Amino acid sequence: MSPRPVRTAPGAPERPLQITVDGDPVEGVAGRSIAGILLAAGRTSWRTARSGAPRGVFCGIGVCFDCVLTVNGVPDVRACRRRATDGDVVTTQTRAAADNGEAGA
Ligand code: FES
Repeated sequence: MSPRPVRTAPGAPERPLQITVDGDPVEGVAGRSIAGILLAAGRTSWRTARSGAPRGVFCGIGVCFDCVLTVNGVPDVRACRRRATDGDVVTTQTRAAADNGEAGA
Protein backbone atom coordinates (compact mmCIF):
# COMPACT_ATOMS: atom_id res chain seq x y z
CA MET A 1 0.00 0.00 0.00
CA SER A 2 1.28 3.43 -0.80
CA PRO A 3 0.78 6.50 1.39
CA ARG A 4 -2.36 8.47 0.54
CA PRO A 5 -2.24 11.93 2.05
CA VAL A 6 -5.38 13.70 3.18
CA ARG A 7 -5.48 16.89 1.14
CA THR A 8 -6.20 20.25 2.67
CA ALA A 9 -8.61 22.66 1.04
CA PRO A 10 -7.20 24.30 -2.10
CA GLY A 11 -5.08 27.26 -1.12
CA ALA A 12 -5.11 26.39 2.58
CA PRO A 13 -1.68 25.95 4.14
CA GLU A 14 -0.81 22.53 5.48
CA ARG A 15 -0.48 22.63 9.25
CA PRO A 16 2.61 20.77 10.49
CA LEU A 17 2.60 18.64 13.59
CA GLN A 18 5.07 16.45 15.41
CA ILE A 19 4.63 13.08 17.07
CA THR A 20 7.22 10.93 18.77
CA VAL A 21 7.66 7.31 17.80
CA ASP A 22 9.64 5.25 20.28
CA GLY A 23 11.13 8.51 21.49
CA ASP A 24 12.13 9.83 18.06
CA PRO A 25 10.44 12.95 16.69
CA VAL A 26 8.52 12.45 13.44
CA GLU A 27 7.15 15.40 11.48
CA GLY A 28 3.74 15.18 9.87
CA VAL A 29 0.83 17.16 8.56
CA ALA A 30 -2.44 17.71 10.44
CA GLY A 31 -5.28 15.62 9.10
CA ARG A 32 -3.28 12.50 8.37
CA SER A 33 -3.51 9.21 10.17
CA ILE A 34 -0.59 8.01 12.26
CA ALA A 35 -0.02 5.33 9.62
CA GLY A 36 0.03 8.01 6.93
CA ILE A 37 2.62 9.99 8.83
CA LEU A 38 4.79 6.92 9.37
CA LEU A 39 4.54 5.90 5.71
CA ALA A 40 5.30 9.44 4.55
CA ALA A 41 8.37 9.37 6.80
CA GLY A 42 9.54 6.24 5.00
CA ARG A 43 8.64 3.73 7.66
CA THR A 44 6.72 0.81 6.15
CA SER A 45 6.59 -1.45 9.21
CA TRP A 46 6.49 -0.85 12.96
CA ARG A 47 5.50 -4.15 14.46
CA THR A 48 6.77 -7.70 14.34
CA ALA A 49 4.49 -10.71 14.13
CA ARG A 50 5.13 -13.81 16.19
CA SER A 51 6.85 -15.33 13.15
CA GLY A 52 9.22 -12.38 13.01
CA ALA A 53 7.59 -10.93 9.90
CA PRO A 54 7.36 -7.13 9.77
CA ARG A 55 3.90 -5.58 10.03
CA GLY A 56 2.61 -2.13 9.17
CA VAL A 57 -0.38 -1.27 7.03
CA PHE A 58 -2.13 -4.17 5.33
CA CYS A 59 -5.79 -3.28 4.78
CA GLY A 60 -5.59 0.41 5.59
CA ILE A 61 -9.25 0.50 6.61
CA GLY A 62 -9.29 -0.78 10.18
CA VAL A 63 -10.06 -4.44 9.53
CA CYS A 64 -6.83 -6.45 9.87
CA PHE A 65 -5.23 -4.93 12.99
CA ASP A 66 -1.77 -5.35 11.45
CA CYS A 67 -1.00 -1.70 12.14
CA VAL A 68 -1.60 -1.60 15.90
CA LEU A 69 0.61 0.42 18.18
CA THR A 70 0.33 2.26 21.48
CA VAL A 71 -0.75 5.91 21.41
CA ASN A 72 -0.51 8.05 24.52
CA GLY A 73 -0.42 4.91 26.67
CA VAL A 74 -3.42 3.25 25.01
CA PRO A 75 -2.40 -0.09 23.44
CA ASP A 76 -3.78 -1.71 20.29
CA VAL A 77 -4.64 1.52 18.51
CA ARG A 78 -5.03 1.01 14.76
CA ALA A 79 -2.61 3.45 13.17
CA CYS A 80 -4.62 3.53 9.95
CA ARG A 81 -7.76 4.69 11.79
CA ARG A 82 -6.23 7.12 14.30
CA ARG A 83 -5.84 10.69 13.11
CA ALA A 84 -2.57 12.06 14.46
CA THR A 85 -2.62 14.99 16.85
CA ASP A 86 0.30 17.22 17.65
CA GLY A 87 2.35 15.76 20.49
CA ASP A 88 1.06 12.20 20.27
CA VAL A 89 3.42 9.77 21.96
CA VAL A 90 3.55 6.58 19.94
CA THR A 91 5.29 3.37 20.91
CA THR A 92 5.50 0.30 18.77
CA GLN A 93 4.25 -3.09 19.95
CA THR A 94 5.39 -6.62 19.39
CA ARG A 95 3.27 -9.74 19.21
CA ALA A 96 5.39 -11.22 22.00
CA ALA A 97 4.39 -8.36 24.32
CA ALA A 98 0.71 -8.82 23.44
CA ASP A 99 0.96 -12.57 24.11
CA ASN A 100 2.29 -11.78 27.57
CA GLY A 101 -0.60 -9.43 28.24
CA GLU A 102 1.70 -6.43 28.08
CA ALA A 103 1.59 -3.47 25.75
CA GLY A 104 4.38 -1.53 24.17
CA ALA A 105 8.04 -2.21 23.46
S1 FES B 1 -3.94 -1.66 8.31
FE1 FES B 1 -5.51 -3.04 8.74
S2 FES B 1 -6.36 -2.29 10.59
FE2 FES B 1 -4.86 -0.82 10.07
